[in-house]
Amino acid sequence: MKTLVVAVLVTGLVHATSPSRTFNGSIQTNASYAVYKNSSAPIESRVTDLLSRMTLQEKAAQLLQGDFGNWINTTDNAFNYSGLVSNMATKASQFYVGYPIPQQWVAEGAKRAQDYLMRNTTLGIPAFVQSESIHGFLIGNATIFNSPIGYACSFNPDLVEKMAGVIAREALSLGVNQLFAPLADLARELRYGRVEETFGEDPYLTGEMAYSYVKGLQAGNVSAMVKHFVGFSAPEQGLNTGPVHGGERELRTTWLPPFKRAIIDAGALSVMSAYHSYDGIPAVADHHTLTEILREEWGYKYFVVSDAGGTDRLCDSFKMCQGKPNIDSEAVTMYALPAGNDVEMGGGSFNFRTVPQLVTSGKLGIKIVDEAVSRVLRAKFTLGIFEQSYLGVAASDVPKYMHTPEAIELARQLDAESIVLLENHNKVLPLQKSANVAVIGPMADGFMNYGDYVVYKSQYRGVTPLAGIKNASTGRVTYAKGCERWSNDQSGFAEAITIAKAADVAVVVIGTWSRDQQELWEGFNATTGEHVDVSSLNLIGAMGPLVKAIIDTGKPTVVVFSSGKPITEPWISEKASGLVQQFYPSEEGGNALADVLFGNVNPSGKLSVSFPWDVGTLPIFYDYLNSGRTIDAGDTNANGTIKFGHQYVTGTPQPLYEFGHGKSYTTFKYSNVTLSTQSVSRTSNDTITASVSVTNSGSVDGQEVVQLYVQDVISSVVVPNQSLKGFEKTMIRAGETAKVNIAVKVQDLGLWDRRMKYVVEAGAFVFKIGSSSKDIRGTATLLVQ
Ligand SMILES: *[C@@H]1O[C@H](CO)[C@@H](O)[C@H](O)[C@H]1NC(C)=O
Ligand SMILES: *[C@@H]1O[C@H](CO)[C@@H](O)[C@H](O)[C@H]1NC(C)=O
Ligand SMILES: *[C@@H]1O[C@H](CO)[C@@H](O)[C@H](O)[C@H]1NC(C)=O
Ligand SMILES: *[C@@H]1O[C@H](CO)[C@@H](O)[C@H](O)[C@H]1NC(C)=O
Ligand SMILES: *[C@@H]1O[C@H](CO)[C@@H](O)[C@H](O)[C@H]1NC(C)=O
Ligand SMILES: *[C@@H]1O[C@H](CO)[C@@H](O)[C@H](O)[C@H]1NC(C)=O
Ligand SMILES: *[C@@H]1O[C@H](CO)[C@@H](O)[C@H](O)[C@H]1NC(C)=O
Ligand SMILES: *[C@@H]1O[C@H](CO)[C@@H](O)[C@H](O)[C@H]1NC(C)=O
Ligand SMILES: *[C@@H]1O[C@H](CO)[C@@H](O)[C@H](O)[C@H]1NC(C)=O
Ligand SMILES: *[C@@H]1O[C@H](CO)[C@@H](O)[C@H](O)[C@H]1NC(C)=O
Ligand SMILES: *[C@@H]1O[C@H](CO)[C@@H](O)[C@H](O)[C@H]1NC(C)=O
Ligand SMILES: *[C@@H]1O[C@H](CO)[C@@H](O)[C@H](O)[C@H]1NC(C)=O
Repeated sequence: MKTLVVAVLVTGLVHATSPSRTFNGSIQTNASYAVYKNSSAPIESRVTDLLSRMTLQEKAAQLLQGDFGNWINTTDNAFNYSGLVSNMATKASQFYVGYPIPQQWVAEGAKRAQDYLMRNTTLGIPAFVQSESIHGFLIGNATIFNSPIGYACSFNPDLVEKMAGVIAREALSLGVNQLFAPLADLARELRYGRVEETFGEDPYLTGEMAYSYVKGLQAGNVSAMVKHFVGFSAPEQGLNTGPVHGGERELRTTWLPPFKRAIIDAGALSVMSAYHSYDGIPAVADHHTLTEILREEWGYKYFVVSDAGGTDRLCDSFKMCQGKPNIDSEAVTMYALPAGNDVEMGGGSFNFRTVPQLVTSGKLGIKIVDEAVSRVLRAKFTLGIFEQSYLGVAASDVPKYMHTPEAIELARQLDAESIVLLENHNKVLPLQKSANVAVIGPMADGFMNYGDYVVYKSQYRGVTPLAGIKNASTGRVTYAKGCERWSNDQSGFAEAITIAKAADVAVVVIGTWSRDQQELWEGFNATTGEHVDVSSLNLIGAMGPLVKAIIDTGKPTVVVFSSGKPITEPWISEKASGLVQQFYPSEEGGNALADVLFGNVNPSGKLSVSFPWDVGTLPIFYDYLNSGRTIDAGDTNANGTIKFGHQYVTGTPQPLYEFGHGKSYTTFKYSNVTLSTQSVSRTSNDTITASVSVTNSGSVDGQEVVQLYVQDVISSVVVPNQSLKGFEKTMIRAGETAKVNIAVKVQDLGLWDRRMKYVVEAGAFVFKIGSSSKDIRGTATLLVQ
């Protein structure tokens, strides 16, 4: 959601329509005996009853998102009662509060709105109070977790569920009951700016992460909004909101499964549609995905809302209706609403305000309106907000809920478990605590290198790498920035070289950067984040030369990539003593990094996304379809001569680091891969359990992410060469062996056949167990009959 755009547009809004009914205490009192007010009555009866009492205008108001800024001045907190009345007359469904304002302004403004809706409107329908939260509740001083691309590397769904529980608790303490998270999009186009918001490239890992997020959030009485439905994140040329190319089989094989896991299996109460078009159909008006698949195939009962300004794109961007001088709002509504996009978010022209006139004129059937309204009401009844519309706590109690010591500790733990050790030449890591460390680089101090979707000015709060290293070290810690992120200026190198030479080891922190939700849209320089796309994955400006200059000192040099996406500087992997990937950190990022660098935490993160050698080899995801990735690699030899290949002439289509890769300070030996059965019927509803013994053969305790990939050996259509079907993260003490079991449902081994039917085909399925998608340590074959 483009916060700034919403803020700007909403402030300039004109409320043309007045309330269709004024408050009538007699009706409301009478309605207190109505079925819809009875919390013991079945939800379907409540929905039907309430719908039968609603005017057309009241129904239409459930299909538009309002905005907090319409009744609270976000500069001085002045309350505007007529602004509230006017907002709720046409946009009573839900409202956005994600402003960079004091916490209590949100709480008080939200309570005013809920109280007004419950006491001063005829029917007393509470609203969803909405904000952002992909890695923390978007308000000043709430706990900031590391970016989704990062915490997916933890392969730890339990911690993710706990994190979502913290986010729910913090949000609800201010009365916020719906959050625009998680994403179930996939990082399959690395040039795209929003890679950091995803859980990586893999449908299964993404599904598990999104599922855990939804479970954790909704257990805390805050409804999740799974986004962006569907097939959004591989835009043409990597450009934000660009068209996506793909077919039905790809949609069903790759894009839909993580959404189904989050929406259906976890029971998410809302879904956000996406900005893009897929195979020529805008997602916001795609009857096939929004209705035929989501509702008719999956049985989803709750609502879909457009992304901010997403509906206007039908005219403005897709040119499917007239956009200028006045947008054809009726056309927009007729494209989106009947397709199954039930609610229109702000940030655009509020096209759904035309719903009453479209119904009255006979162009839009009331059944479509009733269906959409029912979905919204059903979500509200299910969340329980008719009974308790406002669950915010007293201001004096907020510290018990917000940014608690437990939440901060969880942020550190999750962040540390997300850090991926890419290289550790000569066991340079872990560092001695007494070592003298030269900390170098523009991402090491001065500001937090958070990803997008953090509140304005967040970068000034949090533990930087320098601070974390100082906290953990008993030696001498020095710092030199070396260069700015955004500049080719090398005048700071001399100082950095000097402190590196004087230290035992250098830690150089460089990478990509994003901006908070205000600066991101104000045109500040950044290299990742929403609407910030790249044509190269190399380091910008002087950062690469800085790394080289420090390595050239001859001091052991540990490089830390602090980034929101893979970086392609393969020479660093070879030349640096160690290489650590820390995707955009939590507010405890520096401590988490130091935990790993000094060995308090044995790294256990595994890449949620493959690293290419070069942007020219994209896409690089590991589960390419059979026939993909033929290899006859070329290279430039160390002596400078060129070895000519064909795939590619001077490079390789293989990844530099594959999905699932990550080193440890110990070693794990795998043995005895077995399956609970050797053969099974293809119609079986059973679960196959793959087992493996994993021995920690090193000298320190460690967690291993045991990964199970399945290869369908012969198939009637082209399928992925292998697919992750399960994983288990296990702590194994040094010298000990753990038996790890991973269960797979037979029905999860299927494919979408020529007639686009989901079938499990007879034949051999190889279960490959290993430490990454490439590092397979043992296999067993299941025969499906
Ligand atoms: C309120 O509703 C009651 C019952 O429908 C009706 O008799 C009464 O006239 C209404 N009062 C006003 C002020 O509209
Ligand atoms: C009160 O509600 C009942 C049942 O819902 C209805 O029959 C009756 O007409 C209502 N009375 C008024 C005054 O609205
Ligand atoms: C509320 O609904 C329950 C379950 O349908 C029913 O038993 C009960 O009588 C209802 N209460 C009122 C006050 O109507
Ligand atoms: C909000 O408050 C600021 C500061 O008091 C004022 O300048 C501004 O005009 C107000 N905005 C509106 C829409 O009233
Ligand atoms: C209060 O809201 C009303 C209705 O939207 C608007 O006309 C008016 O300008 C607002 N007043 C202030 C002070 O913002
Ligand atoms: C965050 O805390 C600081 C320091 O206590 C305070 O000044 C600021 O207003 C708080 N921010 C929010 C959004 O409440
Ligand atoms: C409800 O309306 C009454 C009078 O119309 C007003 O005094 C009161 O402040 C309103 N309550 C809320 C919560 O808006
Ligand atoms: C969630 O709502 C239920 C039912 O209203 C209530 O019993 C429970 O205490 C609430 N949980 C939280 C975390 O607020
Ligand atoms: C980049 O943005 C920063 C503000 O964060 C600014 O100080 C700097 O001058 C900008 N540099 C360039 C080259 O745009
Ligand atoms: C350069 O290195 C390549 C690969 O090691 C070797 O085959 C070739 O003979 C070398 N050429 C020269 C001129 O040294
Ligand atoms: C593997 O299986 C063999 C035969 O059952 C057994 O002797 C051996 O101890 C097992 N190894 C591990 C590490 O469990
Ligand atoms: C598996 O479950 C489905 C749906 O419940 C059922 O139709 C089918 O008969 C079951 N298959 C077997 C082999 O039991």
